[in-house]
Amino acid sequence: MNKLSQSSAPIYEALKKYRELRIVSFDVPGHKQGSGNPMLKEFLGADCISVDVNSMKMLDNLCHPSSVIRDAEILAAEAFGADHAFLMVGGTSSSVQAMVMSVCKPGDKIIMPRNVHRSAINALIIGGVTPVYLNPGVDKRLGIPLGMSIADIRQAIADHPDAKAIIVNNPTYYGICSDLKSIVKLAHEAGMKVLVDEAHGTHFYFGDNMPVTAMAAGADMAAVSMHKTGGSLTQSSFLLTGPAMNPEYVRQIINLTQTTSGSYLLMSSLDISRMNLALNGKQIFAKVQELSEYARKEINSIGGYYAFSKEIINGDTVYDFDITKLSIHTREMGLAGVEVYDILRDNYGIQIEFGDVGNILAIISVGDRLLDIERLIAALSETKRLYQKDPAGMFDHEYIEPDVVVSPTEAFYGHKRSVPIEESENLVSGEFVMCYPPGIPILAPGERISRDSLDYIAFAKEKGSLLTGTEDMNIERINVLEGK
Ligand SMILES: Cc1ncc(COP(=O)(O)O)c(C=O)c1O
Repeated sequence: MNKLSQSSAPIYEALKKYRELRIVSFDVPGHKQGSGNPMLKEFLGADCISVDVNSMKMLDNLCHPSSVIRDAEILAAEAFGADHAFLMVGGTSSSVQAMVMSVCKPGDKIIMPRNVHRSAINALIIGGVTPVYLNPGVDKRLGIPLGMSIADIRQAIADHPDAKAIIVNNPTYYGICSDLKSIVKLAHEAGMKVLVDEAHGTHFYFGDNMPVTAMAAGADMAAVSMHKTGGSLTQSSFLLTGPAMNPEYVRQIINLTQTTSGSYLLMSSLDISRMNLALNGKQIFAKVQELSEYARKEINSIGGYYAFSKEIINGDTVYDFDITKLSIHTREMGLAGVEVYDILRDNYGIQIEFGDVGNILAIISVGDRLLDIERLIAALSETKRLYQKDPAGMFDHEYIEPDVVVSPTEAFYGHKRSVPIEESENLVSGEFVMCYPPGIPILAPGERISRDSLDYIAFAKEKGSLLTGTEDMNIERINVLEGK
């Protein structure tokens, strides 16, 4: 067998060989290299559709890898400094869910910040796991949730010594990192595992001068969105494990919910992107950092906007900051982030990652060029000139502390009735409400509906945020728990 090296991409190489063999397929997918769907073939291209194939001997099987997928996993584990890496084709949502279900059984407790992505709370519902929420502090000026405080973690461990694990965002959507090494130390001393949502942290593994990675900090598992900042196709992700995890058991957990028809487009994109970052990541992310720093400096010199960075580090709830996240505070100009988000797209043809009530986030990544950054800076400058308003009366915080009445699982499966959302104050929500993106629930199942959350929802609606989560697609009604 050839020795594996980071300059190889085993799945990609196997697919190229497969294509050369011109195999006649009497298996699925039924489009048969696109012949059965000319419009799709024309749209995606013959090369692309010819490798949309099913598992077979020479291409291995994602549910039970023993050749090229196994080799791609070994190379990924090496590149990320993990003991094991799993190729995931159900988004980082599936990686987050596999993490929780690998360490918790129904009835177990898990310590986590409340400003997690919906996939983490969904994992609790699926797995019957009870959260012990830590409320992150909020930055007063920016209104955004911060990282986890070490004192809060120490207290949560003391209050809930039976919790099985701690979930940490590394970083948050806005680029904020907690003190991961200290969290790992405290958790391991208490016999708990550390699960890290690194949906927004792929580049930490490859660039210089980046915040610490989950694997380097000694965490037990990490969910890494290769598709977000690593260049792979949408929906592809890596799940990484450390030395204390049993990879065979983790694979069984993954296989509980994973498709048996893993997409080779997604898997080859993970394989090729891993190779690219392992070989070129340092230069790529040095350029990304340079572009973000340039953009931040120019945007701050426009006035009115505040593109924040490492100056918000405070040694605890902001232990480190990811400078590739171009997070910009807009409220002081009288503009909600979501308004700026819409203006940039509708008037300037610029799509940014998200806008919340007071901030926007532009993601700078492997694919960005100086030219595009200049366009963003110019558009922001003009937006200020044309749309600036008085900020009086604007909603000023992004995070609302929840009042958890029953667990998400109990609430999700509980007896519910539907009420108009404006009449739901003080009732207990049976479902989620969130703006997407970022997908961090304003309300999760089991939480009492406060005036503050209703005001936030009304403000976000008025400003044009995409709200989601309730059964009612218009978010005019909400299912609440009977008798609570
Ligand atoms: C923090 C965080 N975790 C997990 C996810 C889920 O990732 P995916 O969309 O790949 O399922 C997201 C998606 O935005 C996220 O922001």
